[in-house]
Amino acid sequence: QDRSVQVKLVLLGEAAVGKSSVVLRFVSNEFQANKEPTIGAAFLTQKCRLEDRVLRYEIWDTAGQERFHSLAPMYYRNAQAAVVVYDITKASSLEKAKTWVKELQRQANPNIVIALAGNKIDLVQPSSTSSSSDSVDAEDEADDATATPGENGETGENLRQVPRDEAEAYAQEAGLLFFETSAKTGEGIVEIFTEIAKKIPIE
Ligand code: GTP
Ligand code: MG
Repeated sequence: QDRSVQVKLVLLGEAAVGKSSVVLRFVSNEFQANKEPTIGAAFLTQKCRLEDRVLRYEIWDTAGQERFHSLAPMYYRNAQAAVVVYDITKASSLEKAKTWVKELQRQANPNIVIALAGNKIDLVQPSSTSSSSDSVDAEDEADDATATPGENGETGENLRQVPRDEAEAYAQEAGLLFFETSAKTGEGIVEIFTEIAKKIPIE
């Protein structure tokens, strides 16, 4: 018999921030570069092993497109945990995440454990191919903290639109767990689910 505790978890967030990719990484340790938008919602399960117990996540991966917004309460109702995802290269997606958090705090289970995940950090990490010319310029631009996005090419810290400190301060104020993640590299993904698991009360 499977005696593991079942935990119902919902993912919410703006379209294309990477909700399905986060789940795919967690459940299958895979990544798809051109993942299709979710229609309605998808259901997946995955076990999560802690030192002292095993949980079985029942995951509802919702669709971020606005036309599906009204379906969300069906998925977060009775959820014990929620992962609200934004894209660190898109400031509007953090604003959307904040509205989801407010909705959860008003309408969901009052004991729900909520994690905020800033996804796609791989896009702001230095890539191995774009170093030399940047480092020559670095002296001149050392004091330029306001470099505009796109100035130095496609990747790099200049693509970041949401400072880590700002999102982390918001998360702390709102009582959320906080992570920066990459579904592409896998960074931070397992941590979301294990830290949530630690906060789920033992029955
Ligand atoms: P909806 O289902 O429409 O709400 O979107 P979603 O939030 O599920 O996003 P999805 O996982 O479909 O990802 C959208 C696009 O972003 C896809 O092309 C993914 O390959 C890409 N993507 C997701 N996560 C990451 C990431 O961590 N890094 C990078 N570079 N791309 C990512
Ligand atoms: Mg999706």
